[in-house]
Amino acid sequence: GSALRLVAKEGAFPLFGGPETALWHYNARIDETIVANPLLAIGRGEPLDVTLENALAEPTTIHWHGLAVDEANDGSGLHPVAPGKKRRYTLRVENRAGLYWYHAHPHQLTGKQIQRGLAGLLLVDDEEELTLRKRLRLPWGERDIPLMISDKQVNDRNEIVYKDNPDDWIGNRVLVNWTAGAYLDVKSTLYRFRLINTSNARVFRPAFLHRGRPLAFHLIGTDGGLLEKPWRVDDLFLAPAQRADVLVSFAEVGEGESVILTSLDYVAMENEDDSGPLQPHLMADHPGAVPMGGRMELMEFRIGAADPKDSPAPLPPKLCNFPKPAVEVTPVRKFRLSLDAEGVWHINDWNMHASGHDAQFVVRRGTCEIWEIHNAMASMPHPIHIHGFQFHVLSRTISPPDIRARAVVPGGLGPQDLGLLDTILVWPGETVRIALDFSQPFKGRQRYMLHCHNLEHEDMGMMVTFAVT
Ligand code: C2O
Ligand code: CU
Ligand code: CU
Repeated sequence: GSALRLVAKEGAFPLFGGPETALWHYNARIDETIVANPLLAIGRGEPLDVTLENALAEPTTIHWHGLAVDEANDGSGLHPVAPGKKRRYTLRVENRAGLYWYHAHPHQLTGKQIQRGLAGLLLVDDEEELTLRKRLRLPWGERDIPLMISDKQVNDRNEIVYKDNPDDWIGNRVLVNWTAGAYLDVKSTLYRFRLINTSNARVFRPAFLHRGRPLAFHLIGTDGGLLEKPWRVDDLFLAPAQRADVLVSFAEVGEGESVILTSLDYVAMENEDDSGPLQPHLMADHPGAVPMGGRMELMEFRIGAADPKDSPAPLPPKLCNFPKPAVEVTPVRKFRLSLDAEGVWHINDWNMHASGHDAQFVVRRGTCEIWEIHNAMASMPHPIHIHGFQFHVLSRTISPPDIRARAVVPGGLGPQDLGLLDTILVWPGETVRIALDFSQPFKGRQRYMLHCHNLEHEDMGMMVTFAVT
C-alpha cells in the first residue's frame, strides 16, 4: 500500500555457482534491506504507488502484467522511461486475487531486458481468497509458495547471453525463484504452488514426478485467479507469462523420497518451415539447451516426515463465485496469426515494428466483444496476451491431439481454459474464441496492446495496439 521506489539497474548475483552473474533487476530498499525484484503483495482495492528510476543505459518501463490499468500506468512500450529518468505508476488494484507479475516492456528491448532479469511477482489477495486459504490451512510462504520458472542461456563465465534480433530465445539453465538447481524441503502433506513461466520463449509442460510417474494434482486457478472448482490433472501446459495455481499432496510419498517438478516432452509443433522439429538453425545460438518440447527437470521436492498435528483440510467442491462471461450478442473481431516469406510474424498481416504503433481499431468502453484468434497451420504455438483485460475462453477448435485430449467441457476447453486468462496459448491450426468485457472506470482514450508473449515475436512486432474509448 505504501509508496515504493524501484531502480532498474545492473547488479552482480551468485546465481549459478562460481563467478557472479550480471543481472538487470528492479532494486528496492524495504525496511533498510536491499531487495532485487521484490515480491509485491497487495489487497484488492488498494492503491499501488511505484516510482521507477531508470539507472540503465537504455529505455525501460514497468508493465503490470494482468492488471486492469489505464494507459498511463500500463508501462507498455508506448511510454518508455529514458535512461536517468523517473516515472511514477499509481493505480488501484481491482483485479481478483491471484498471482500477477511486473516486467520491463520497452519496444524491441523486452526480450533482452526480461532475459537479463527485469521481472518480479505481484500477489493480489481478496476476502474470498483469504477465506479459502484459512479453510485449506495453507499459509502463504509456508505451504503456499510461488514458483517463478525461467530458462536462461548462460555461457561458461556464468554470463546471461542474448543476441541482437534473435529468434525464440530458449536457455540451457533453469532458474526457479532465481535459484539454479532449486530444491525445497517439504512435509509429507498438502501444498499450494503458484507456477509462473517467466521464460522468453519456452513453453513448459509441468508435471510432478514421483518415481518417474506423474503425481496427480489439482488445478485451482489461472492468470486471473481461482477457478470455480478444482480440476484433477496430471500435467499442464504453461506458456510464457501464464500462471497456474495448483494443489499438490505429498502425503502418499514416503519420507526421504523426492518428487521432481519436470517439464515433460511434447510435440512442439514448430512447423513453420521444413527444417524439422529440432530447429537446427535455432539451436546453434543455444549450446547445451534442450530443444523446445524436450524434457527438462525444473526442481526437486525432498519429502520429510508427516506432521502428526497436521491433517490436510478437504478440498471444497466450490472454490469461489466465478464471474460468468457476458452472454449478450456481441461482435466477433478476428485475428489471424501468420508468418511472411521473410520469417516475420504478423497479426492480420500487420507488424507493429514495420507498420507503426497507432491503434488499429477502437473498442467502445462498456461493451463486450468476442475475439477469434486463428493460428496458421504452418506456424508454431503463440502465447497471445492482451493488456488491461482478463478474458474468458469460449471455444477451441481444430486443436492438435495433445490439446483435444485435455477437453473437459463442450467447446474443446481444458481445465486451464476455464479460468480467467490474460495470456492464451494458440496452437498451430487452432481457432480460439475468447470473450472480453470492456467495462472500465477510466475516461478518455486508453490504448492497450495484443501481442505474442514469446518475447522475440513481440520484439519483432507481433503486436497490435487498440484503443478503448
Ligand atoms: Cu507481460 Cu505486454 O506483457
Ligand atoms: Cu501484459
Ligand atoms: Cu508468437
